[in-house]
Parts: sequence; structure tokens; C-alpha cells
Amino acid sequence: MEIIRAKDYSDMSRKAANILAAQIVMKPNCVLGLATGSTPVGAYRELVRRYQEGELDFSRVRTVNLDEYKGLGPSHSQSYRYFMDSHLFDHVNINKAGTFVPDGLAEDDGAECRRYDQVVARMGGVDLQLLGLGHNGHIGFNEPGEEYPKNTHCVKLAESTIQANSRLFERIGDVPEYAYTMGVGTIFKAAKVLVAVSGGDKARIVREAFFGPVTPKVPASVLQLHRDVTVVGDEAALALIERRG
Ligand code: F6R
Repeated sequence: MEIIRAKDYSDMSRKAANILAAQIVMKPNCVLGLATGSTPVGAYRELVRRYQEGELDFSRVRTVNLDEYKGLGPSHSQSYRYFMDSHLFDHVNINKAGTFVPDGLAEDDGAECRRYDQVVARMGGVDLQLLGLGHNGHIGFNEPGEEYPKNTHCVKLAESTIQANSRLFERIGDVPEYAYTMGVGTIFKAAKVLVAVSGGDKARIVREAFFGPVTPKVPASVLQLHRDVTVVGDEAALALIERRG
């Protein structure tokens, strides 16, 4: 596991964008696995800037997002499809038909989960998966549990996740209770994984996830077994990790 230290949020965002941009340059028709949330906003802003300056071409890039709230459609301002469009896709030359997010309005959970797994499989796998990290160690919306869910599934969100995400909704009662998420198995199949972390409130879980025991009680800990993981974090998020070298 490679750990890249950044000074602060904007430095972390630039460094994460460097890795995403390098992937696009090295393989213009790559498949990117993407995340939402506060952490990647700065990296997406940086990618947009580089596109606008003519450094990046998204025309052959395809993307697959980790998750979506059940019950929220693309026009809902807190849906993850809306997030991706407004933070990245609407500002670069990506072909939106090649960008995938689970359908929050699907009527049949099982069918939607199977469909999404097929979408990922048909793309031939993910070249680089970007992840944020939940305060409870979740990746995507794979919440702490007794086992690692392999495939896309519909999950009841942990109370702490609803609390954390309520900052973006008017009332806590507006936060959906369920979400679709790629399974840990699918995330783990990505050729490369990039975890972005920022802020002192993530310091404890960063240490637990990447230096504690590998256990589904801390879902991100499974990444310790992956052969190509880079963690890019700011000083605050990496404060409890010993400096090496
Ligand atoms: C979002 C996602 C989540 C977030 C995590 C951290 O697509 O999959 O796992 O990455 O909840 O969220 P932030 O970045 O808001 O702290």
C-alpha cells in the first residue's frame, strides 16, 4: 500500500487528480470507478480545470459509480447521478451514455442489482477505483457487518451514515434509509484502488482500516489485501499514521 501525504484538502485533491489524470493519459479508453461525497469534490474540480486547459480528453473514458440512494432520481439534487453530472460529467467531453450510476428509482431491487453487476462486467472491469472512506470504515455503502457482501446489493444505511450525510439534506428524515451499492467483491476486482481521505475526523478510521485487523466490521480493511492500493490523505487525516522512511 502506497501512502501519499498531502498538506491540506486542496493539495490532497491535486494529488488525487494527478493519479486519475495519469490513468486517463496512459489509457484513454479506461474505466474509472467513481465515488461521491465531500472528499472527491476538489479532485473533480481539478480534473475539470485540466480538461478546460486542454490537458485531458474524456471522450473515450467510461465510468461506473459505486452507489446511489434508493428512491432518488437523477433530477434530485442529492442523488449521486446529479452529483456526478454537476461536479464532473457536465463540464468535460465525456460521453454520458458511457457513465453508469445505479438507478435509484428502480422498482425491483434484485433486478437492479443484477443489472448493475452486468454493467460492470460488460465494461471489462475497472482500471482505477476511486474511494472515499466512511467514519465507520464503509466503502461505497458497504456498512460494517459480519461478512463482505460480494455483489451489488440494496443496503440499509447505518444510523451513523444517515447522521453524517444529513448535512446535505434539509432534514435528517429526508435522508433515504436504503441505497444500492457495489459489493466489496466488485470493488476489490478493480486493477488499482485510490482512497482519498481528508480531515481529522477521519484519522482514527484511517489507522483502523489500513493498519488494524482485516475484518468486515471495518469494511475498508479488506483493501490491505489488495495488490495495488494508494491512499492519498491530508496531514489531518493521516495524523495517527506513523511516517515511514
Ligand atoms: C460515496 C461513497 C461513500 C463516501 C464516504 C465518505 O459514493 O461511496 O463511501 O465515499 O461516505 O464520504 P465523504 O467524502 O463525504 O466523507
